[in-house]
This record gives sequence, structure tokens and C-alpha cells, in this order.
Amino acid sequence: MSATIQVRTQSRAYDVVIEPGAIDRLGEHVRAVAPHRQSLLVVDQSISGSHGATAAASLRRAAYDASAMSLEAAESSKVIDTVSRVHEAALRHGLERRSPFVALGGGIVGDVVGFAAATWLRGVPLVQCPTTLLAMVDASVGGKTGVNVAHPSGELRKNLVGAFWQPHRVVIDPLVLRTLPQREFVCGLAEAVKHALIAEPALLDEMERSIAAIERRDPQTLTNLIAANVRIKAAIVAADEREERDVRARLNLGHTFAHAFESQTALGLKHGEAVAIGLIAAMHVAQSIELISRTDLTRVAGLLAALGLPVSLPAPAEIARLMSAMRHDKKVQDGRIRLVLPGPIGQAHVRDDASPDAVEAALRAVGAA
Ligand SMILES: NC(=O)c1ccc[n+]([C@@H]2O[C@H](COP(=O)([O-])OP(=O)(O)OC[C@H]3O[C@@H](n4cnc5c(N)ncnc54)[C@H](O)[C@@H]3O)[C@@H](O)[C@H]2O)c1
Ligand SMILES: [Zn+2]
Repeated sequence: MSATIQVRTQSRAYDVVIEPGAIDRLGEHVRAVAPHRQSLLVVDQSISGSHGATAAASLRRAAYDASAMSLEAAESSKVIDTVSRVHEAALRHGLERRSPFVALGGGIVGDVVGFAAATWLRGVPLVQCPTTLLAMVDASVGGKTGVNVAHPSGELRKNLVGAFWQPHRVVIDPLVLRTLPQREFVCGLAEAVKHALIAEPALLDEMERSIAAIERRDPQTLTNLIAANVRIKAAIVAADEREERDVRARLNLGHTFAHAFESQTALGLKHGEAVAIGLIAAMHVAQSIELISRTDLTRVAGLLAALGLPVSLPAPAEIARLMSAMRHDKKVQDGRIRLVLPGPIGQAHVRDDASPDAVEAALRAVGAA
């Protein structure tokens, strides 16, 4: 009941190990790629007493003089000051060039600790041990690390500072998902549906068949689901590690819409929820230029809803504001909105031929006014 997937990028090749109970053997996994006396375990503070204690014990059994610290998993803490705290702990505990950093938490901890590892002594070994479904299927694989920057207006601009720094191993234990709040759990499923739309129609079939097993977080089902997603992400990252071509950019399917929805903080959407609605909006645009059929759209909306995700906005956000947020997203060239649009299920392409009218109509279709 386990899977190991190799990620081969130009900068590093590494294994992603998915196995129920893997966190008990975290120390062995770290030792396999970064044998040393010292290590630094950085844990999401909300799980430091539970999964954090298991991880620390495993590192000690593997003969690490395991130093540990915890971080708050909030976007407002995903900033450079927190990276400095990790560096100060590394200095205090005497971490050296070959001492590994271990990130135990969701995407926030993974992004902060990844960036800390990329920059401490110009780069040290990193093991990602993701504890949210979103981080397991998406954030922990692929080497994007970084933090937010506060604009003088007070608004946090996401992921403006960062580095590509591939981990040396990713250790995924689907059993840690037992403690994840339901709303966070389904957020990961939105990214899984995104991966299926981009690259693998069979994954969509599989998810439709296993809704009940996913809902009860069956370890075997989750192991298979996470493995399928990691394989998709690994292939994309191997082909375009630094998003220099439009290959990796396809992972932004639904995200230009999602970022606009998230920017309207009154909507109170989590990232995965915004992505679910964003996928539907992108499908509306795609349908208007006949890239997909109405049946495809109905099918995907049905799956997202069955998984417990929203498919329309919880309140009628203003179209003008959403359009302006979309224009401010990085993906605008010469005033045209560059959007990743789904083609037939299993394909997606970066395009700039969707008219602003089609985008507005899609926003209206998901409940904007
Ligand atoms: N690097 C990448 O490629 C990449 C990709 C996607 C997202 N991200 C980033 O990831 C972040 C979001 O990550 P996330 O959704 O994992 O959120 P997160 O790290 O904020 O975790 C979500 C919540 O779950 C809690 N939590 C984590 N694991 C738990 C567990 N096992 N049991 C109980 N509670 C647990 C956390 O304390 C937090 O409250 C964003 O900052 C986003 O920018 C990065
Ligand atoms: Zn996302």
C-alpha cells in the first residue's frame, strides 16, 4: 500500500514516498538523503504536539540531534521575518552545510522552510513532509518556495520573494490527514481535479468512482489519489522546472480567476475553494469558444460539488473588481488576459484569445454581479 515516484529535474532527482505510517520512519528517510549529526525540524505549531512529536522521535531514533521549532501557519506569517527566525534557529543549533531542514506542515510551512533551506549557507538539504492534502498533491513537489510581501497599503502580495529549491525527498503519510479539518481536506481535492483536467482524464473517472472512499479518508484510496497527482506534477515539473515555457504554467488552470476571488477577502474563500470556482469559470470561457462541451462542464461541476467544494461564489462579488484583479494578476500581456483554458478533458493550454466579454460572462455564470 505504498508508492514511490521519482521526480527528475535539471537541478535534482528525488523520490516522493507515499506510505501510510511514513512519518514514523521520517528519520530513516532523512538519513537516506542527508546523513548528518544535526537536523532542524520545523513544524506547524497546531500539530507540533501530535505529528510533530512523532516526527521528532523518529529523527532521534535515526541518530539526529534533532532540534525543533514551530511556526504559525497563517499567510500573515508567511513573510521574510519568519524565514529569519528559521535561520536564527539554524545558527543557534549549529546547523552546517550538510545538516538537513525538515518541513512538517502544510504549504505555508513548506514554502517558508523551503526558502529558508534554499538560502541558509546558500542551500542545504531539504525534506518536505507535507501534512495537508493540498501540500501532498501540489505544494511539496516541484521546488517552488517563497514568502509574501506586505504592500504599503497593508495588503499582502503573495509569493513575491522566493527561489526554486527542489527537496531531497518528500515523505507523505496519508494517515496524518485524519486530523485535517474537513474544509482544508476538500481544498486539496480541488487541486486534484485541476490536475485531472490538465493531464489525466482517467484520474477524473477514478475520483468519480471513489467519492465515498475519499470522503472517509480511506488510506489506500488516498495513497492512490496522492500518487496519481504527484506523477502528474512530477512529469510537468520535469519538463519545465522553472516555468520557462508554457508547460508548467498550465498548473495555473483556474488560478487567475481563483486569485481574483481570493483578493475579495469579504468572500472568505480558502485557496482550494477559490480554485474550484475558478476551474468552473475557466470551463465557461472554454465552452464559449468551443474548447469543451457543456457536458464536460456539468460533469466537473457535479464532481466538485459531490466532493464538498463550492462551484459558485458565496456572495455576488462585483464584476468590475474581479476584472481589475484579474488584470493585475501576473498573467497580463498587452492588456489581454492570458488564461490557461481546458481543452478536451486531460488537456489545457495557455491562451490569450478569450475576449473580456467571455471572461465577464464566465464571472457572471459563477455568481458575480
Ligand atoms: N510551493 C508551491 O508549489 C505551492 C503550491 C500550492 C500552494 N502553495 C502555498 O501553500 C499555502 C497553502 O497551503 P495549505 O493549504 O497546505 O495551507 P496551510 O499550510 O495554511 O495549512 C492549512 C491549515 O491546516 C492546518 N494543518 C496542517 N496540517 C494539519 C494536520 N495534519 N492536521 C490538522 N491541521 C493541520 C494548518 O495549521 C492550517 O491551519 C499557500 O501559502 C500557497 O501559496 C505553494
Ligand atoms: Zn493552487
